[in-house]
Order: sequence, then C-alpha cells, then structure tokens
Amino acid sequence: MIRDLRESDLTNGFLDTLRSLTIVGEINPDEMKKRFKEIDSDPNYIIRVAEVEGKIVSSATLVIEPKFIHNLGKVGHIEDAVTDQKFQGKGIATKIIQSLLEEAKKRGCYKTILDCDDELISFYEKINYDGRSFHKHGSCMRFDH
Ligand SMILES: CC(C)(COP(=O)(O)OP(=O)(O)OC[C@H]1O[C@@H](n2cnc3c(N)ncnc32)[C@H](O)[C@@H]1OP(=O)(O)O)[C@@H](O)C(=O)NCCC(=O)NCCS
Repeated sequence: MIRDLRESDLTNGFLDTLRSLTIVGEINPDEMKKRFKEIDSDPNYIIRVAEVEGKIVSSATLVIEPKFIHNLGKVGHIEDAVTDQKFQGKGIATKIIQSLLEEAKKRGCYKTILDCDDELISFYEKINYDGRSFHKHGSCMRFDH
C-alpha cells in the first residue's frame, strides 16, 4: 500500500528503511515527533511510504518549491528515495516515485527534479509516468556546511 507518512510509522520501519539510504543517527523520540509535526504541517512537503505486511519498507519525499519565475511556477524536488534492502527489486520505489510525480502534476509543478549518483541514472530513466521519463539534465553542485 502506497500512502503518506503517519506519526506511528516513525517506529514501524520508517527510520530503519532510511538506514538503507544513509546515516540516521540516534534520534530522541520527542525531537523526532517534533520534526514529524513540522513536516506534516507543511503542505509543500510530502513523505510517501510503502507499507508491506504492516511495516514501512520504502519511502520517498516530494518538496514543492513555489517560485516567481515561470509565471509563479512550482518545481517538485524528489529526495530520499529508498527501499529496505530486503524489498529492493520489486518495483516498490518506482510506484512511490510515480505517485509523487502524479502529486507534483496535480499541484501544478512544471517540472520535477532530483540529484542522484551516476549508477542510479538507469533506475530513474526506467520510471515512466504519463508517457514520459526522467532524463539527465545539467550537473549537481554541493556546498558542505
Ligand atoms: C534506488 C532504490 C530506491 C530502488 O528501489 P527499488 O524499490 O529496489 O526499485 P525498483 O524495484 O522500483 O526498481 C526498478 C528498476 O530499477 C532497477 N534498479 C533498482 N535499484 C537500482 C540501482 N541501485 N542501480 C541500478 N538499477 C536499479 C531495478 O533493477 C529495476 O529494473 P527492472 O525493472 O529492469 O528490473 C533502492 O535500490 C535503494 O534504496 N538504494 C539505496 C538508497 C539509494 O541509493 N537511494 C537513491 C537516492 S537518489
């Protein structure tokens, strides 16, 4: 089942799934709930998850950026796509990202972009939505704080 993140998911596989992506750290439960409320109250921030047999096994985030350019256009940013290692290769992340592309379209985004490592280009190129797919465009830059 693909749906939006709920507070109860935080301790039901969501954070463990994120560990397949990067370091999550040891998070204080109160701080974790505070962060959930902050994200949940932001209409431009959507965390979508896949629930399999009652546990969260995959997730991806859509952040919608309202702009002045392009006639007050909006841009979708996909972040933190991840599937728990045991559930990879079953088409789950593809389904989540397709649902986020649908959401971005519904919210009026004129494009949706993301950064990824070179080895993931073929994964994103295979994702088809509305007869189109992601294509390589430009370069990604980073400043570490
Ligand atoms: C990338 C990732 C999210 C894909 O999740 P998934 O649920 O396994 O993806 P899917 O099953 O929907 O994959 C769809 C297709 O992409 C391919 N694919 C999946 N992961 C891939 C990878 N790491 N590199 C290249 N191709 C990949 C699959 O083989 C599949 O191809 P097929 O349809 O020809 O068999 C998952 O491998 C993951 O969590 N990786 C670690 C975290 C990460 O790197 N996230 C990306 C941040 S940009």
